[in-house]
Amino acid sequence: MHDRELLSQSAEETRRIGQALAQQLKPGDCLVLIGNLGAGKTTLVQGLAEGLGISESVVSPTFTLMREYQGRLPLYHVDAYRIKHLDELREIGLEDTMLAEGIVAIEWGEKASKLLPKGCLEIAIELLPDQRRKIRIQQCA
Ligand SMILES: Nc1ncnc2c1ncn2[C@@H]1O[C@H](COP(=O)(O)OP(=O)(O)OP(=O)(O)O)[C@@H](O)[C@H]1O
Ligand SMILES: [Mg+2]
Repeated sequence: MHDRELLSQSAEETRRIGQALAQQLKPGDCLVLIGNLGAGKTTLVQGLAEGLGISESVVSPTFTLMREYQGRLPLYHVDAYRIKHLDELREIGLEDTMLAEGIVAIEWGEKASKLLPKGCLEIAIELLPDQRRKIRIQQCA
């Protein structure tokens, strides 16, 4: 799944990509989701959750900053869109969460880059003019 570029025709297909990705994740993995408003970051995390065996429905953590779900591995879903200061992410314990044996998925993750450990996977979603999504998966620099 690494270093791949995929095209998604629908939200359902983006969820399936998230599901497939979930099969390859191991404890402590970190996913940095990059893409404009409405690109499909939350949609991909919904698929990730399904793939981790989470039955609860995943909603955007825009106001809570982080939500935790229990599955094959715990999933910590973070949305950094509204943060103005990295301290807001420190206060919710993001750095400790990164060290835990779960999966961390951070929307607008580029805003948290200073707090991220090495070896995160970057998932960049681009909304194309024809509404399809280009999804590029690669190791963070
Ligand atoms: N190929 C696609 N992949 C993902 N979402 C799609 C696709 N086609 C249409 N959509 C729709 O686009 C919207 C994507 O919304 P989503 O909340 O996942 O975006 P987001 O990147 O998390 O936005 P935000 O920055 O506001 O958090 C959904 O309504 C979804 O149904
Ligand atoms: Mg979102």
